[in-house]
Amino acid sequence: MLRLGRLGLKGLLLAGGHGTRLRPLTYTGNKHMLPIANKPMLMYGFDQLRAAGIREIGVVLGPLHEGIRESMGDGSKFGVSIRYISQPDPLGIAHGVLISEDFVGEDPFIVHLGDNLLKESIPSLAKDFEKSKADATVLLSRVRDPSRFGVVQINHGKIVKLVEKPKEYISDLALAGVYFFRSTIFDAIRRLKPSWRNELEITEAIQNLLDAGGTITFHEITGWWKDTGRPEDILEANQLVLSDLKPSTRGKVEEGASVAGSVAIGEGSVVRKGATLRGPVVVGEDSEIGLNAYIGPYTSVGSRVRITRAEIENSIVLDGAVIDCHERIVDSIIGKDSKIVSNGNHKPSGRRFVVGESTFVSL
Ligand code: TTP
Repeated sequence: MLRLGRLGLKGLLLAGGHGTRLRPLTYTGNKHMLPIANKPMLMYGFDQLRAAGIREIGVVLGPLHEGIRESMGDGSKFGVSIRYISQPDPLGIAHGVLISEDFVGEDPFIVHLGDNLLKESIPSLAKDFEKSKADATVLLSRVRDPSRFGVVQINHGKIVKLVEKPKEYISDLALAGVYFFRSTIFDAIRRLKPSWRNELEITEAIQNLLDAGGTITFHEITGWWKDTGRPEDILEANQLVLSDLKPSTRGKVEEGASVAGSVAIGEGSVVRKGATLRGPVVVGEDSEIGLNAYIGPYTSVGSRVRITRAEIENSIVLDGAVIDCHERIVDSIIGKDSKIVSNGNHKPSGRRFVVGESTFVSL
């Protein structure tokens, strides 16, 4: 059989789910297309799989998936082949894996959750997994609040137990959202019953594999790992990625503007006289940072954005947004084409909102 992948490994990117914790941003778009340092979240996992030499990638899509096919296409522009796998209802990560059985066939494969970012070398781990006889290799990271994650217990260097969101403490080693599997996982998933949240849990599937005598190995992550389920996680992931930002100026910085630290400015963007940028900051294309604006550390500004007068720090401003007010904005995610402007001399004076469902405003 023709093997397209250098290692014979396939990749599976999971981009289904509801993304309820990221509402209202996920009412109108798929959470995996939300930008982190101006790159869609999903592309981080995609790039990891490609870096591991994988040439066949399956992408599991839920009902709200606009933008994903458009940006990835059939994969050819990235040198890979993509198969889209539809998961109309988010019945769990393990369900997403099970419905990909036809695509995976007998090959070993990596599952990368589309909302997970990892600063770890997946390529070298992929090689180790290929050589090993393990049924699964999981990546582990120590966390402060294990009750939010799938957690493993280790005894004498071996995984002995896996529990999804444990109510009682068993360990602080959480499962990161990247899993290496062989086709033995499919039977383990078939033996699952839906959990209390009506999902097929991947943590329980791996426990099934272990109970059936399977070999599960693990690797403790040394770099950072971020599961971006909540707005604060997105901001933290943005910080982590921006920490490694390489400065570049494709746009224009007018004389009299102040730019310090690691700042990347995209084509067509302009930083006006009197504006201050203190990196790490990334600005997309065709944006304008106007007079008296201050863009502080860990801020990502998308394309076609206009910011004047305001101060903004540790935030993400999506494409097309306009911010024009004498306010200080921190720790915020400003949705596409949103406007935050000052009231001027409008009467009655006061703050005016058009706030969508499940929006969060802190004044
Ligand atoms: P979760 O964060 O567990 O779920 P979610 O994305 O629906 O978000 P929320 O809990 O806020 O409603 O999903 C983890 C990853 O797995 C994410 O990238 C989406 C993906 N996923 C699927 O592809 N199919 C599924 O059935 C589920 C539950 C998740």
